[in-house]
Amino acid sequence: MEEAVIQKAIQYIKEYFADDYSGHDYWHSFRVYKLAEEIAKKEQANLFVVRLAALLHDVDDRKISPDTYEEKGNAVSFMKQCGIDDRIISDVCTIIEEVSFEGNPVTPQSLEGKCVQDADRLDAIGAIGIARAFSYGGNHNRVIYDPDSKPSLNMTGDEYRNHISTTINHFYEKLFLLKELLNTSTAKEIAEHRDRFMHEYVDEFLLEWEGKR
Ligand code: ADP
Ligand code: NI
Repeated sequence: MEEAVIQKAIQYIKEYFADDYSGHDYWHSFRVYKLAEEIAKKEQANLFVVRLAALLHDVDDRKISPDTYEEKGNAVSFMKQCGIDDRIISDVCTIIEEVSFEGNPVTPQSLEGKCVQDADRLDAIGAIGIARAFSYGGNHNRVIYDPDSKPSLNMTGDEYRNHISTTINHFYEKLFLLKELLNTSTAKEIAEHRDRFMHEYVDEFLLEWEGKR
């Protein structure tokens, strides 16, 4: 039964995210699912809850689905249709709520939530994180870089949501901070290389900009 639900969830998000080109697509959720699974195995978390929460973590995202965001309507309908236990539905919804960053991060209560949050954050850094950042920036009409625009640090949740910045600033405002926010030692290990690569990338970018490369 559990395996069938996971396969159905994969199919569900494939259809749900079919038209998204903002870096928030089906493949993002699928990568988070694979990463969360890898972390959960090492950390000995409940695999079914982790897999399900990872697959469904963005279907009620405030930006994509503002009307279902509060109650996690899409995730709940999907899980009810599959006949999943109310306890598990509630655990998965708690994880989905905890996972979104939005400027003021919370630490998930459960080990399962920690695994999913770490996987979501890992997908925002490294080579894939760079690609997603520029894809998001293009999608939201942001310039890639402006030497006169400095990063804003220590923003509140509302400031973070409302402020318009360059994509290079986003590295300083969010992506370089993620490594320190990870919960599990498995994720911290994976983050080391990804974070280093991302710093090297931005260093190169700025050197080229200044005509030094
Ligand atoms: P998720 O909900 O998957 O954690 P977000 O919705 O915060 O992610 O962002 C989706 C992707 O877009 C991430 O890779 C993130 O780094 C990127 N992104 C979000 N905001 C910005 C921004 N202001 N500039 C560039 N990239 C951004
Ligand atoms: Ni996500």
